[in-house]
Amino acid sequence: MSDSSTEPVAVTNPVIEALLQRRSIRKFKPNPIAEDVIATLETVAQHAASSEYLSDWSAIRVTDGSLRERMAQIGNQHYIGEAPLLYVFVLDEHRNAAIAARGGVDVHSDDFTLNTSYRFSQAQNDAVLALHAMETAANSLGLGCVYLGSLLNDAQAVIDALHLPEYTYPVLGLAIGEPDQTPELKPRMPRSMQFFDNAYPADIDTVLEPLRDFDVVVHQYYDLRHTERPVDAFSTQTTTKATDPSNLTKSVGPIARGQGFTLDR
Ligand SMILES: Cc1cc2nc3c(=O)[nH]c(=O)nc-3n(C[C@H](O)[C@H](O)[C@H](O)COP(=O)(O)O)c2cc1C
Repeated sequence: MSDSSTEPVAVTNPVIEALLQRRSIRKFKPNPIAEDVIATLETVAQHAASSEYLSDWSAIRVTDGSLRERMAQIGNQHYIGEAPLLYVFVLDEHRNAAIAARGGVDVHSDDFTLNTSYRFSQAQNDAVLALHAMETAANSLGLGCVYLGSLLNDAQAVIDALHLPEYTYPVLGLAIGEPDQTPELKPRMPRSMQFFDNAYPADIDTVLEPLRDFDVVVHQYYDLRHTERPVDAFSTQTTTKATDPSNLTKSVGPIARGQGFTLDR
């Protein structure tokens, strides 16, 4: 059953239920994950859709103890080092560049286009879809997961630690393990604020009408990381994050400030 923090759904099945019950898990039992489960999760990830069938992502299993510690340090989140299974998904045109080079392409010439921001973003999409498929499969097996964007606190450090070659870039980490906590489902905004018919609404004030109620709902949520106080209202969180200076330092070259969002209109 979905709970009151999401709108009730009229149609359900085990897949829908698993998706509606998903939540981030940040405390894991130490039990190792069986090899056949790992193989299954990895195969599921490979079955995600891939832009132009380029399969332009890879995932690094971080099994070495000191490397896991390094990832936890970079992400500044202790549970990164505690999860029994830890992946770093990377967008990857290195493999395809090598294949193209074997096919006669000079990858250091202007003819080579797998190094463009377009392919960068499409490869990132591929990596995220694969990671999400893996997360869903893991959840369906009773495992818990958390995505780790925090590794991008210092992308260069991840690149160095994992020896990521040219034409690769870290996208997200994924920590997986048997859950040792049961956080509340985190509320989602009303559908009317996120789904629009045919065009983006001209009147943003109408879109934001349910915001006041949603702020109240979010403010009632207790994050297990800070059980001493409810989380801030959605408006407060968003307003604070809108001026977070780390958004600048974590941005990468191809999508400089503004240019990623603003085209001539
Ligand atoms: C791209 C992305 C990066 C994230 N990075 C982190 C992270 O570094 N650490 C963490 O604890 N949670 C991380 N999360 C989890 C979000 O905080 C979480 O999904 C969100 O608060 C909603 O909560 P829920 O997943 O429990 O529904 C990330 C989620 C996404 C989609």
